Amino acid sequence: QNQLVHPIDSKSILYAVIGDPIVHSKSPIMMNRAFLETGINGVYVAFHIKDHALPDFVAGIRAMNIRGVNVTIPHKQAIMPLLDAIDPAAQAIGAVNTIVNDNGKLTGYNTDGIGYVRSLKQEAMPQLQGKKIVILGAGGAARGIVYALLQEQPEQIMLINRTVSKAEELGSSLQAYCMEGSVLQACSPEQTERIIAQADLVINTTSTGMFPNVEETPLDTSLLSEHTVVSDLIYNPLTTKFLLTAADRGMKTHGGLGMFIYQGAYAFEYWTGVDAPVSAMRDVVLASLS
Ligand code: ATR
Repeated sequence: QNQLVHPIDSKSILYAVIGDPIVHSKSPIMMNRAFLETGINGVYVAFHIKDHALPDFVAGIRAMNIRGVNVTIPHKQAIMPLLDAIDPAAQAIGAVNTIVNDNGKLTGYNTDGIGYVRSLKQEAMPQLQGKKIVILGAGGAARGIVYALLQEQPEQIMLINRTVSKAEELGSSLQAYCMEGSVLQACSPEQTERIIAQADLVINTTSTGMFPNVEETPLDTSLLSEHTVVSDLIYNPLTTKFLLTAADRGMKTHGGLGMFIYQGAYAFEYWTGVDAPVSAMRDVVLASLS
């Protein structure tokens, strides 16, 4: 299943993912499956890069003509000043997860937020325009998603966070990207219950409920209306307790695996210009998780 269609030869084009740690990454399995499916002679490998080695690695991208790189924790910010250009969306988000190498010119992109939105629209909520959205959490993951959701012209995005000041900062720093008619603001503790009850979509971007803390939930789903779509970025476990209790109450749910698949799909498309074989990518990742 995880075989390369092409033997690796002198024409093989190199791709990589970097992070620290990186050993658990599913990206090599997913991307090599995508090359297999599309008949592209690409090879995608994982490199464990420590902070101090990042500049040497970037020099290595150019030296070895690596066509594309995915960047994960903890390098998504630190890599930015080492690149030649940053896509405006990645600049606004303040993080890069994908690098495209055009003959030595390295451009940084962020496909996490748009990957999330593509997954949400495909799998749970085709129309986001005019919707009331609640985001739980105000960290790096929330930032990318809020930026991408704002492009869809929702009626409002309300930010709820344990540390309210961080939600306020996130709201004001992305205010400039609100289209006309959309409202983006932090939710005060007094407003929280009312806002949650009115939400069309609630998204958990916190780590609450992630393995091994699978009994935790970020919010009591009895506060939500039955028509609310409930989404969780976590994909380990594939279905969190948050989603299970929402499903029990009859709500539509959306898990985090799709975000991972589609952030990779966008990266693949930026590098190759070929439509990503999304279902084959999902199948191979699911098989590796079970
Ligand atoms: P990420 O890049 O995954 O978003 P992060 O930037 O560290 O990670 O942000 C984590 C988010 O999850 C924050 O909003 C954090 O809340 P605080 O700003 O109050 O720290 C939230 N979070 C993490 N653990 C939490 C918990 N047990 N309960 C509530 N919120 C939690």
